[in-house]
Amino acid sequence: MDYFSAPEERRTDRLLLRSWKPGDGPLLSEAVNCSYEHLKTFMPWAVPHQDVETSEQLVRQFRGRWLLSQDYVVALFSPDGSRALGGCGFHLRHGPLSLGVAEVGMWIRADVAGQGLGTHALQTLIDWGFSEWPWQRLVWKCDAENHASRRCAEKAGLRLEGITHGDQVKVGGTERRDTAWYAALRPSGV
Ligand SMILES: CC(C)(COP(=O)(O)OP(=O)(O)OC[C@H]1O[C@@H](n2cnc3c(N)ncnc32)[C@H](O)[C@@H]1OP(=O)(O)O)[C@@H](O)C(=O)NCCC(=O)NCCS
Repeated sequence: MDYFSAPEERRTDRLLLRSWKPGDGPLLSEAVNCSYEHLKTFMPWAVPHQDVETSEQLVRQFRGRWLLSQDYVVALFSPDGSRALGGCGFHLRHGPLSLGVAEVGMWIRADVAGQGLGTHALQTLIDWGFSEWPWQRLVWKCDAENHASRRCAEKAGLRLEGITHGDQVKVGGTERRDTAWYAALRPSGV
């Protein structure tokens, strides 16, 4: 198995990005529960209520998978670490760690969405991913009708590589939908 000692955190003036850890359950639960209406259209995992125990189990799974180099789910916190502002991650959905390809996903809590935070978080992830992580290629894919997500990708400098047609079904439904694929390659010399 491939192992990688992943960097633990990245700080900016607006965010603390780090692995979810045991004890973060209450913060995760609070953030997703006040954001259900905002998340439910595009996030298949969103539920009307996620209790603290379920959230705690999730953050422990995220941490375990991080330590095993299986998946890197990254929490987005306020700079002082007191409030969960969302989540993102480097997901190994396109091959083993050694391939150097990660898929980036993201959600921002409802009461701070639309304030430029998603774009800032994505720019930070790309910068972090190509400097301290071994990624050669970062992928972002979303429902082609997810305008906030697409705009976020474009503003962060990702390139639209194409649209696949009818390859997924809409969250919670049977209607087929299109997917927009964006990506960035590690800059040469980095
Ligand atoms: C997508 C998401 C992460 C973007 O984060 P954010 O903090 O809201 O994004 P920003 O404030 O940086 O805005 C990015 C752009 O999207 C636009 N935007 C935001 N909400 C929008 C909406 N509902 N419809 C159309 N455009 C929207 C913003 O206006 C901005 O573009 P502009 O600067 O040209 O005006 C966030 O909206 C979210 O969590 N959505 C629900 C979960 C989701 O869809 N995740 C993405 C899965 S790939």
